[in-house]
Amino acid sequence: MVQSLRGMNDLLGESSDKFSYIVKTASKVAERYGYSYIETPLLEETALFKRSVGESSDIVGKEMYQFIDKGQNDVCLRPEGTAGVVRSFIQNKLDRKGEKQKFFYHGAMFRYERPQKGRLRLFHQFGCESFGESSVFEDISIILMIKDIFDNLGIKHKIKLNSLGCNECMPKYRESLIEDLENKRDELCEDCGRRIATNPIRTLDCKVESCQDKLSSSPKITDNLCESCDADFEQLKSILTQNDIKFEVDKHLVRGLDYYSKTAFEFVADGIGSQNAIAGGGRYDRLVEFLDGRETPAVGFALGIERIMDLVTLEESEPEGYYFGVLDEENLGELFNLASRKRGSTKVHIEYKKRSLKSHLKNALKMNSRYCAVLGSEEVKNGTIWIKDLQAKFEDVVSQESF
Ligand code: HAM
Repeated sequence: MVQSLRGMNDLLGESSDKFSYIVKTASKVAERYGYSYIETPLLEETALFKRSVGESSDIVGKEMYQFIDKGQNDVCLRPEGTAGVVRSFIQNKLDRKGEKQKFFYHGAMFRYERPQKGRLRLFHQFGCESFGESSVFEDISIILMIKDIFDNLGIKHKIKLNSLGCNECMPKYRESLIEDLENKRDELCEDCGRRIATNPIRTLDCKVESCQDKLSSSPKITDNLCESCDADFEQLKSILTQNDIKFEVDKHLVRGLDYYSKTAFEFVADGIGSQNAIAGGGRYDRLVEFLDGRETPAVGFALGIERIMDLVTLEESEPEGYYFGVLDEENLGELFNLASRKRGSTKVHIEYKKRSLKSHLKNALKMNSRYCAVLGSEEVKNGTIWIKDLQAKFEDVVSQESF
């Protein structure tokens, strides 16, 4: 039998209910914060991700579903959503309008990772991107919005924050970090050794314990921020504190994508294993320009829907709509017409097989219908229909006309 690919799951039954509940809840919150829906293609030119997520990142270096299409174009399935939204923002000339633009999206992302609990090759993100606002208050609004989404979903979480500096302070910090790492090279793992040349900042979140020990004495970006980045980071922390938002500054939080500057954050949750990051994001003020658009400050985030599905409990839904059944098959046509009319206003299930009244009632309860409506020869003759309200436990025979 043909099976789905490793790390790629079907969504059905309870998981698809949870999936739509999460998307619906997050979309509603994003709309309240002024975001509007954007849909971008799943397949993009590989160059887009190389230039944004970064050639030295694991995502681009090891995890892309990349191939040459029939027109000899080098393309790949999107590993994340930000790059496509930025491309669309520039392609549609929104960078030239100089207005603030805010988008939300949700959809499939593909990363050829080693599958494990919470780590899939096909997963879904819900994300938001805000363009044209450089104020740190926009970073704060985004963090408050994510918290709002998780609170609405009843998900307990912790917030980790860092600042990655800007064009002015990051290069100087990078030099001092490289110097420190060179001195420790022999004590670091192979990956970290390689990263000294390709992406030294990424060594800071190496998962190897001995590396973490060695790196604890390395210079930290937050101790080396320029005046403006430092002031923004202080304000960010202060406003969050004033809003009663608990957070932890994680000086080793660097994110796995290269486009960030200044604010970087992650939301983590307990009880879902080692892949506990449920959302991540930050500021990326240089990316629009880097992808040939006009200089535009931007900040955004994405949350991992599958990881959140493990934390969401669905409330039992209230009985809703009508279950329709016949006692004799020859009355099915008449029942079908009656039931079809109800479809305009409520949920309707029609049973095509004739059954006993008892069996229809049992079925209606199983379908979580509020009403069970049954047509027998007697009702057809009288132009009526038998109905039972399964919640109020009340039954009646009403005329088909008033029904
Ligand atoms: P990211 O941290 O790579 O950021 O992914 C965001 C979220 O997607 C993660 O926190 C996690 O919940 C989920 N996720 C990532 N990889 C997997 C996987 N293999 N399986 C299941 N879930 C996963 C981004 O993608 C950025 N584009 C976020 C952003 C938007 N930054 C600015 N704007």
